[in-house]
Amino acid sequence: MNRDEILELLEQSGERPVSGEQLSKALGVSRAAVWKQIKALREMGYRIEGSPRSGYRLEGVPDILYPREIRKRLQTRAFGREIFHFMKVGSTNQVAFDLAHRGYPEGTLVIAEEQTSGRGRWQRNWFSPPRVGIWMSLILRPDVAPVRVPQVTLVIGAACARAIHSCLGFKPAIKWPNDLLYDGKKFCGILVEMEATAEQARFLVAGIGINVNQDESDFPPELRETATSLRMITGDEVDRISLLCRTLEALEEDYRCFLSEGFAALRKKWLEYDATLGKAVRVRLGSRELIGTAEDLDEEGSLLLRLNDGRLQRVNSGELTLCRHADA
Ligand code: BTN
Repeated sequence: MNRDEILELLEQSGERPVSGEQLSKALGVSRAAVWKQIKALREMGYRIEGSPRSGYRLEGVPDILYPREIRKRLQTRAFGREIFHFMKVGSTNQVAFDLAHRGYPEGTLVIAEEQTSGRGRWQRNWFSPPRVGIWMSLILRPDVAPVRVPQVTLVIGAACARAIHSCLGFKPAIKWPNDLLYDGKKFCGILVEMEATAEQARFLVAGIGINVNQDESDFPPELRETATSLRMITGDEVDRISLLCRTLEALEEDYRCFLSEGFAALRKKWLEYDATLGKAVRVRLGSRELIGTAEDLDEEGSLLLRLNDGRLQRVNSGELTLCRHADA
């Protein structure tokens, strides 16, 4: 891509300005085309000083999830090798879904600085303001039956928790199946959507939203009681690119392990971050609600719920609320 090549040349040249003519010759495009790309890079926040005649110098790189910066720091085989980056998009899950339909391979990543209609679970919206989060979707093509897809969502949640734990040093808590919380407040949500036949998942889109650098005042009032960000937890600004790379690496490692050894091999990793078992919970399944104690997570990734009447109920998916004992 021209834009990447321009950045490459400016970086190599350091303090020495590179003229518009040099750039157009090196790239084999017109000077007008070079100018257009410089303008686009400036709009993205790259500080490029100078003009076509005096030459250009790169003076500052913005804090955006630009694919070139990610690729430089990413150590994966397939995840994030193909990246689509948007300054603003409706929903990265929607874009990834369309790309999957067009045949893009497993590991294709869609990221956005901002989503205007970010999707959450249970038809909720996901608040996705510009440049402060990681709003991303990954195409997966596992050879599994649809009934095993909830296991993939558990694997993804545990991999995100592990990456955040190792990058930032605090231990996230997972609320079944895959909400990541700290001190009872949510900072990461996962929405896995799939296209499937009765026997086979054709592809999955794993959408992950991480609140990274928001302050409390960045959240709308109705979310302030329940949502938090990594910056609010750690007290420090977080490098989104590092966190994104470590997350993709953890995801790829655990996903491969899931494909070769099954969920049972990853159950322990999930349990390491569990904040659900042993607690009084309510689980909403469509219009039904189950109330009881979360007793265990079985080898298939189902939640075993001890109902208040003593029966044990297996639950594969549903919306879980942790309750104070008096509520149960
Ligand atoms: C949840 O409700 O907990 C799931 C939230 C998932 C949000 C992410 S942000 C990136 C991706 N694109 C979307 O539209 N949603 C997911």
